[in-house]
Amino acid sequence: MASHPRSSAFFILQLSLLPTILSLQANAAYYDISPVECGCPDQYEVTMRLYLHQFVAGPNHPNRNEEFVIASSYPNGFGTTLVNDWYLTTTPSPNGKVIARAQGIHVQAGTTDANSWYTSFNIVFQDDRFNGSTLQVMGIILAQNFGEWSIMGGTGEFTMAHGNIKFRVDTRDSTSEDAIRELEIRAVYTSITQLAFCHKHL
Ligand SMILES: *[C@@H]1O[C@H](CO)[C@@H](O)[C@H](O)[C@H]1NC(C)=O
Repeated sequence: MASHPRSSAFFILQLSLLPTILSLQANAAYYDISPVECGCPDQYEVTMRLYLHQFVAGPNHPNRNEEFVIASSYPNGFGTTLVNDWYLTTTPSPNGKVIARAQGIHVQAGTTDANSWYTSFNIVFQDDRFNGSTLQVMGIILAQNFGEWSIMGGTGEFTMAHGNIKFRVDTRDSTSEDAIRELEIRAVYTSITQLAFCHKHL
């Protein structure tokens, strides 16, 4: 760490250099990244691999777990909105135990691209371990076979969750009905159990 110059001569020198410093700063990077001191020792990190099953909408798809709710007459289907209740399993098989559901919406939000979907949904866990806990997810779905969503929050076990979900379409196991995505979920959180623990020490 640099020592702090205390004499007034130093101070005046610094003032005279100020315009130079400011102009240098104008050309500097617009961001700065530095490590944060870890404030709460009661944080946990969870990683999961789950398979999301999107049984696509449409009259020929009786098993669909999403529905069109707003149609659009704008170019590229701008504004088309679907509600989804996708489900997540531990293997690519759609018949496996349902661990959680991804309940929310996706909206075609691209004016120049017909496949630029805004999505936000809750992952609602329903297995023994995390039953009732949720993750709040937001992000983009493009035509490409991979992408990333952010985890904006959580409840229950996943209170104060933040992290991301990297996904890729499982092209081998997907069918015309079931678009399967492999999800790599990663989040840091402070569980309600741990919050209660913290409060005891206040
Ligand atoms: C999850 O919680 C609900 C509501 O409390 C309960 O009805 C259900 O049996 C629970 N499921 C599991 C797998 O524990």
